[in-house]
Amino acid sequence: MFGRGTTDNEVDGAEALRLESVRKVYGSDDNPVAALNGVSLSLPAGSFTAVMGPSGSGKSTLLQCAAGLESPTEGQVFVDGTPMTGGSETKLTKFRRSRIGFIFQHFNLLPTLTVLQNVTLPLRLAGKKIDRRAAVDVLGRVGLGNRLDHLPSQLSGGQQQRVAIARALVTQPRVVFADEPTGALDTKSARDVLGLLQESVRLYGQTLVMVTHDPVAASYAGSVLFLADGQMVGHLANPTAAQVAERMTHLAEEVERRRVREGV
Ligand SMILES: Nc1ncnc2c1ncn2[C@@H]1O[C@H](COP(=O)(O)OP(=O)(O)OP(=O)(O)O)[C@@H](O)[C@H]1O
Ligand SMILES: [Mg+2]
Repeated sequence: MFGRGTTDNEVDGAEALRLESVRKVYGSDDNPVAALNGVSLSLPAGSFTAVMGPSGSGKSTLLQCAAGLESPTEGQVFVDGTPMTGGSETKLTKFRRSRIGFIFQHFNLLPTLTVLQNVTLPLRLAGKKIDRRAAVDVLGRVGLGNRLDHLPSQLSGGQQQRVAIARALVTQPRVVFADEPTGALDTKSARDVLGLLQESVRLYGQTLVMVTHDPVAASYAGSVLFLADGQMVGHLANPTAAQVAERMTHLAEEVERRRVREGV
């Protein structure tokens, strides 16, 4: 079981996310692909965790299963102690909308809605009161308080991703998942977005799980989990970018050696 040490911010051992022996198999019976092959982890509330691994190692699948967007073939996922498996689809959707935030690589904003409307949308979907002030507050926090009525197309990539962060935070979710949130951004915008994500953890006690390919991005996290071939193969606490880069190089070599050995 991979976890991590606690920081000042983490709420006395409360567990925000737990995966127990999660397997996810795609494809047909005669050609199955095990995207996740028995992943277990436990993340405390208020932690910021980066997930790294070679392309195809199962990072996005891990996030999708943890966020209840995909159901595991085997194993269990718990968010804030509540099982994400076994209940009805309606109940799960309701739970997901109120307790889970998701940030995508390509922002996924609705192009015909303004910045403010994009951010209030999750409240609408969750059937909550449209708290305009909460939405304006969170947009202020990400530095877009003066862009409320703009359309996404009128914003830079970095600004669009900041709207997406505001949208993920507005429901005050238990866990926010981000799949390569800086993958489509230039270096400066990426640093801004990472700073904001880090701040949401430090100041607001948000729990954050972020997939990234960038060792510098991973170094913003409190710990890094490494995946290879659908399995958890390592863990690094308080990572520096150099340590992460070195680990990734070794990981790629190990995976290559194993594939040659196993003839895959
Ligand atoms: N919907 C799907 N149907 C079939 N196979 C899938 C599906 N989604 C993922 N896979 C397979 O599962 C494995 C893991 O994919 P996943 O997208 O989780 O990798 P990743 O680590 O996020 O890669 P990348 O860094 O390229 O985004 C891959 O072999 C992929 O081809
Ligand atoms: Mg991916």
